[in-house]
Amino acid sequence: MIEIRFASMEEFTIIFERLKEIPMQWEDIDPARSLFHAAFDGEAIVGFARFEPDERGALLGSLYVEPAYRKAGLGQAIVEYAEELTRQRGLAQLFVFSTEARGFFQRLGFVETPVEWTVQTIPHSPQVEWYVQHPHYLAEEVTYVKQV
Ligand SMILES: CC(C)(COP(=O)(O)OP(=O)(O)OC[C@H]1O[C@@H](n2cnc3c(N)ncnc32)[C@H](O)[C@@H]1OP(=O)(O)O)[C@@H](O)C(=O)NCCC(=O)NCCS
Repeated sequence: MIEIRFASMEEFTIIFERLKEIPMQWEDIDPARSLFHAAFDGEAIVGFARFEPDERGALLGSLYVEPAYRKAGLGQAIVEYAEELTRQRGLAQLFVFSTEARGFFQRLGFVETPVEWTVQTIPHSPQVEWYVQHPHYLAEEVTYVKQV
């Protein structure tokens, strides 16, 4: 059975190395504020995502499911887990940056929203702070939001 839960600092270190290996963006991660959660099959980390709550919404980032575990509902389960974390914080909006997985997020009820709106709504998210400092990357981004 697969369990999704908060990743310890030690587990975060494993995820961080995996992100570099994949490779996926890692420069914008703040270990103190990018709260990583992972899906475990026994001891093995088979999927993960970061959760960054801000005052008016939260951000889901670095979503990844290991290839052997895809197409079985795990990506959706991790997103739903992040939606629950958002509600637990008393927040109503979950944002995501994604240029690659439009169909996946739209299928889960996310709608495209202007990048400027995302930046204005969750300015203290480490990922947003990083993008504001790297406008060339920000210009190529697409954002989505879901009311949770
Ligand atoms: C995107 C990703 C997380 C999906 O994980 P997954 O475990 O395969 O997703 P699920 O099995 O929960 O899929 C949920 C639904 O979305 C669909 N879906 C999955 N990937 C999709 C895609 N790229 N485009 C459109 N639909 C997709 C599935 O078919 C499924 O629909 P169904 O219930 O009708 O079959 C995974 O493919 C991945 O890690 N990709 C590389 C990293 C990435 O792109 N991350 C997202 C950007 S931050």
